[in-house]
Amino acid sequence: MYQAKAYSARSATSPLASTTVTRRDPTEHDVQIEILFCGICHSDLHQVRDEWKSVMPTVYPCVPGHEIVGRVGKVGSAVTKFKPGDLAAVGCLVDSDHTCPECQAGLEQFCPNLTLTYNFPDKHLGGVTYGGYSESVVVDERFALRVPSNLDLAGAAPLLCAGITTYSPLRHWGVAKGKKAGVVGLGGLGHMGVKIAHALGAHVVVFTTSPGKKEDALRLGADEVVVSRIAGEMKKHARSFDFILDAVSADHDIGAYMELLRRDGNIVLVGAPEKPLSVSAFDLIVGRRSISGSPIGGIPETQEMLDFCGAHDITADVEVIPIQKVNEAYDRLLKSDVKYRFSIDMASLKSE
Ligand SMILES: NC(=O)c1ccc[n+]([C@@H]2O[C@H](COP(=O)([O-])OP(=O)(O)OC[C@H]3O[C@@H](n4cnc5c(N)ncnc54)[C@H](OP(=O)(O)O)[C@@H]3O)[C@@H](O)[C@H]2O)c1
Ligand SMILES: [Zn+2]
Ligand SMILES: [Zn+2]
Repeated sequence: MYQAKAYSARSATSPLASTTVTRRDPTEHDVQIEILFCGICHSDLHQVRDEWKSVMPTVYPCVPGHEIVGRVGKVGSAVTKFKPGDLAAVGCLVDSDHTCPECQAGLEQFCPNLTLTYNFPDKHLGGVTYGGYSESVVVDERFALRVPSNLDLAGAAPLLCAGITTYSPLRHWGVAKGKKAGVVGLGGLGHMGVKIAHALGAHVVVFTTSPGKKEDALRLGADEVVVSRIAGEMKKHARSFDFILDAVSADHDIGAYMELLRRDGNIVLVGAPEKPLSVSAFDLIVGRRSISGSPIGGIPETQEMLDFCGAHDITADVEVIPIQKVNEAYDRLLKSDVKYRFSIDMASLKSE
């Protein structure tokens, strides 16, 4: 075991601060990754502030971070996928049972015995897992991913959650050329959804509450932008969408979006607001519409997404920050004031 520098929250109301965490020495199937960049996902904020206490209560101290890119340091004796010095990435998953039908199908995100990258029971050391706001992490090589060499690393880190969480439902529901796809909320997930849906060939419409993001949405690949607070603009799209990706982090009226779905259209929630959303039965009945949810993605699909992003030269638009600015970044995330993902330069942890 060894001590790694990290940033943690001690309680739901305390700011993140410098600390050290215990990491295991790599076992035979493990790789140790020296973290270069870690994205800030809104899930980190929900978890740190214990906003998901009814489903996933936070265990403190909490070290968040599941958008990890780095270089392989030590490798275990049986590791075949990586050697020291290689680039490697870790997303939201660090383990699963490998035996259940979900794992056998490569859908580890549905494994009943999965281990998330932080705030989940740590099978090796006891306590809970600690995430990527840290100088290093040790994971089973099966949960480490290859990073295409052409991608900027600060911008590649957010692919590990924001990228896969949007890629997976877009692919599952067949978003492609000839389909009209909506993306609600132009934040970290939303802007990745726009880039990927555009690369898949769909007609993409962004719904934003921030009029100032209109130009950016078009630059990112949207064909149209709707400022959702203007009712008339919403009505123009009534009953026209095949698919809508809802990536909003806070309470909002999903009924307004359901009315925009055509017959058999589907709205998929990837955003995970603290409070339940209300759904009108009539919005579902009229048009035989569906509402679904989708969590991250499995390991094979995460690699497929990284390779897709490599081939299409897609990374997140990032604002690179030192770890010392993480609390300020959280405050800005709450105000929808980020273009469009914070990526922490982990070299900044060296001075702690
Ligand atoms: N399903 C999964 O596996 C998964 C994975 C990762 C994250 N998540 C969840 O997805 C959500 C989004 O994460 P993120 O990192 O993309 O967050 P983010 O960067 O903060 O983006 C959220 C966006 O939602 C919109 N928004 C915020 N408050 C709103 C309000 N009150 N009403 C309407 N729109 C509002 C804003 O977009 P505009 O300014 O354009 O309106 C904002 O930029 C979070 O709840 C997160 O926990 C889920
Ligand atoms: Zn995330
Ligand atoms: Zn399993």
